[in-house]
Amino acid sequence: MIRESAQVAATRRVGEYTVLTMTAPGIAPLARPGQAVTFAVGGAQSSLLARRGCAIFRAQERGVYGGTLEIVVDAGEPGTRWLAERRRNDLLDVIGPVGRGFALPRDPVSCLLIGAGWRSAGLFGLAEALHARGCRVDIILGAATAERLFGVLEARRESATLTVLTEDGSMGARGQATDALDEVMARGDTSVVYASGPAGLLRTVAERARERGAVSQLIVDVSLACGSGGCLGCAVWVTGQDGNPRWVRACVEGPTFRGDVLRWDRPHPAAVLTSLSRDGSAAP
Ligand code: FES
Repeated sequence: MIRESAQVAATRRVGEYTVLTMTAPGIAPLARPGQAVTFAVGGAQSSLLARRGCAIFRAQERGVYGGTLEIVVDAGEPGTRWLAERRRNDLLDVIGPVGRGFALPRDPVSCLLIGAGWRSAGLFGLAEALHARGCRVDIILGAATAERLFGVLEARRESATLTVLTEDGSMGARGQATDALDEVMARGDTSVVYASGPAGLLRTVAERARERGAVSQLIVDVSLACGSGGCLGCAVWVTGQDGNPRWVRACVEGPTFRGDVLRWDRPHPAAVLTSLSRDGSAAP
């Protein structure tokens, strides 16, 4: 893991979100799909103690600016609002890549990627890696409204089939992302499901995958307050290798976990607060 000063190279709006592109020549070549980065937020007069974690949307080893990272910011609270207000040439204190990325299948199997809102961003580097292994990739994207969807154009390019759902019906079918799970898994004969979204979506994906004999891998939705294993603020309740339940750190042992390892009987308060605080509800 590396700490570096990343310079903002470009910003753009996508629906309700801000996409930041930054030069990060140390971190970008090391980044793997599913990993995250954390940022110190706030200026000299307004800095916040806790860092803000973001999934890596894209990492390019080289380009016009050298190695670059792209992240997607939902400006739902003061820390992420500060990030979304950064402009070209601003400097960001960034640590990464944080945690472990997704495990990739050895064989060219059929995979389903399901994401909700801005959290879908963590799945796109994965789609490219799966294609490189000859895997079929189906994608489901969901959000409360069309403006809160992320990655529809990219998903169209990178999937055999794309299914879009919004809760208000403003794009795609009306409903939640998980409403399409059974149909898409059956149609694609899915072997592995990858998901990024709020806790309710992750739990449903883990349960449906298990019922259908598929493997699930999930990015947990917890705050990464330090990103380096020191604060214990990212604790996740799992079944350990010895079969006993235990807390582990998402920034070290995660943020990707197999669905059959995650336990849902004691969600960490931080996970609940994160889901609730961004929108005022648990929905994406
Ligand atoms: S974010 Fe601090 S221990 Fe994981």
